[in-house]
Amino acid sequence: MADRNNRFAGKVVVITGAAMGIGRACAEAFAAEGGSVVIGDINEAARNETVELITNGGGKAVAVHCDVRVAADVQNLVQTAVSTFGGIDVLYNAAGVVRYGTVEELTEDDWDFQIDINLKGSFLTAKYVIPEMRKRGGGSIVNTASVQAFASQKTVAAYAASKGGIVSFTTTVALDHAHEGIRCNCIAPGSIRTPMLEDAANTFGEDDPEGAIVEWGRLHPLGRVGTPSEVANLVLFLGSDESSFCTGGCYRVDGGLLSPLFNG
Ligand SMILES: NC(=O)c1ccc[n+]([C@@H]2O[C@H](COP(=O)([O-])OP(=O)(O)OC[C@H]3O[C@@H](n4cnc5c(N)ncnc54)[C@H](O)[C@@H]3O)[C@@H](O)[C@H]2O)c1
Repeated sequence: MADRNNRFAGKVVVITGAAMGIGRACAEAFAAEGGSVVIGDINEAARNETVELITNGGGKAVAVHCDVRVAADVQNLVQTAVSTFGGIDVLYNAAGVVRYGTVEELTEDDWDFQIDINLKGSFLTAKYVIPEMRKRGGGSIVNTASVQAFASQKTVAAYAASKGGIVSFTTTVALDHAHEGIRCNCIAPGSIRTPMLEDAANTFGEDDPEGAIVEWGRLHPLGRVGTPSEVANLVLFLGSDESSFCTGGCYRVDGGLLSPLFNG
């Protein structure tokens, strides 16, 4: 059994969307367990802050500009991982966005924006990371779906479609690469307190965004929203050898949100 506090010693972990939120928490957690972390994000100030948090704590991390919609950016991210740390063992796709609206309200640009970042982004990273994993004799890919892949709120047609796409994309990648020791799983978080959730609370919470977050928390059987580090616990499990018999799966980290037949 691997040392649980050092599960990623000697491993190189590429994470998209690690400037903030769930991605940042995962970057810090992988680095705290010995991983060398390579961050791809569009937010320069925040991605550099994540690197500082890690290196100040004695960990190893670099960050590069990467818009996950752009193949050349993704290739540069992969190249940076290889030239800085020698290869890639784990890919965690956290980059994601949401824009609200019914299909009548959403523009074609809103649709493309969400599908391109949330779904095509995971295609592009897998496409360019898998050849590097193959050279290492295997690897683990973790994608980010959402409870919205299975059950939905109103006004998230494009977001929910992108997350449903992630679940089926994940199963196919798992099948295509199982024979070479490359695993692929995804996670389905419930409401997690991140800048994305806080933005939603500012939009829909009227004059009480904090109250909105408490209300959303009550919809989860555990009675609260989750934290990014609670999601990181699952991502690290799926990224590590502890999940060596898991591939093609979608794992909930949702405080029980999808369990009840009726709420209340
Ligand atoms: N927070 C939640 O409640 C929740 C629930 C379910 C699923 N998720 C999913 O978890 C993932 C992380 O969400 P979060 O809440 O941490 O969001 P966040 O907004 O706090 O962070 C998202 C990160 O993605 C980056 N990003 C955005 N567009 C990008 C692009 N084109 N290329 C590269 N990076 C880009 C942002 O700069 C940011 O660092 C997303 O895929 C989201 O859909 C979040």
